[in-house]
Amino acid sequence: MAKLGVNVDHVATLRQARGGREPDPIAAAILADLGGADGIVVHLREDRRHIQERDLKLLRETVPSTLNLEMAVEESVAKIAIQIRPDKVTLVPERRQELTTEGGLAVIEHRDRIKSLIRAMHDVHIPVSLFIDPDLDQIRAAQKVGADAIELHTGRYANSRESAEIQKEFDALLESTKLARKLGLEVNAGHGLTYHNIQPLMMIPEIVEFNIGHSIISRAILVGLERAVREMKSLVTGPNSQP
Ligand code: PXP
Repeated sequence: MAKLGVNVDHVATLRQARGGREPDPIAAAILADLGGADGIVVHLREDRRHIQERDLKLLRETVPSTLNLEMAVEESVAKIAIQIRPDKVTLVPERRQELTTEGGLAVIEHRDRIKSLIRAMHDVHIPVSLFIDPDLDQIRAAQKVGADAIELHTGRYANSRESAEIQKEFDALLESTKLARKLGLEVNAGHGLTYHNIQPLMMIPEIVEFNIGHSIISRAILVGLERAVREMKSLVTGPNSQP
C-alpha cells in the first residue's frame, strides 16, 4: 500500500499573494493529517516565494507524521535543514542550470555538490532523496552520490495525452523503479499527479510514496467553495443586514 505525502506549498502561495496570514499552510497540514496524509511536504525556496522559515519551524512542531523538506542544493538552506531537522530532505532543482531536459535534478553534472550536501545531512541523521527524471543514468548517479531514495519526476507521464505516449512514460517509470530498487534505493514519485492519472501507477507497488500538491489543493478549493460562500451569505443576509 503506497503512502501519500501532501505538499502544502500552494496554500502558502495563496497567502503570499496578499502578504497576510491566511490561508495558513500549518492549518492545511493539520487538515491533511486528519484526512490521512502520511506526510507533509514543503519546499523552502531560496526566493521564499511560498513557504517561509516560520512555516517550517511550526510544521516541525506540529506535523505528527513525516515532514519532508524539499530544497535546492544550497548551503544556506542546508543550514536551516540542519537546524530544523525535518524527517527527510528531497533535493530539487531551483535554477534552470540545475535541471536535466525534463526537469529533474542533474545529478551527474552536480555530483560533487550533491554528494557533500548528502554527507552533511547524513551527519545529522537526515535521509536524503533526489528528485530525478526516470533516467537510468541519473538513477545510477543517485546511488553513487549516496542518496537514500529517489523521487521520480512524473511530469512527463502526467503531461502525456496520447495512449502510446502515456504507456512509454509509464514504462520509463517502471524500468527506473526496478533499477533503483536493485541498487537499494527507496523509490517515491511525484509532480503533476491528479485524481485522473494516479491509478495506473498503483501497478508499480515498489513506489513507496506519492507526493502530491497542486491537484489536491485545487480540488480543496472547489469542494470547499460552496460551503464557504454559504457561510458568508448567511453573514451578509443575517440579522444586521439591510432588508
Ligand atoms: N514532488 C516534488 C519534488 C515537487 O517539487 C513537487 C512540487 O512541484 C511535487 C512533488 C508536487 O507536485 P504537484 O504540485 O504537481 O502535485
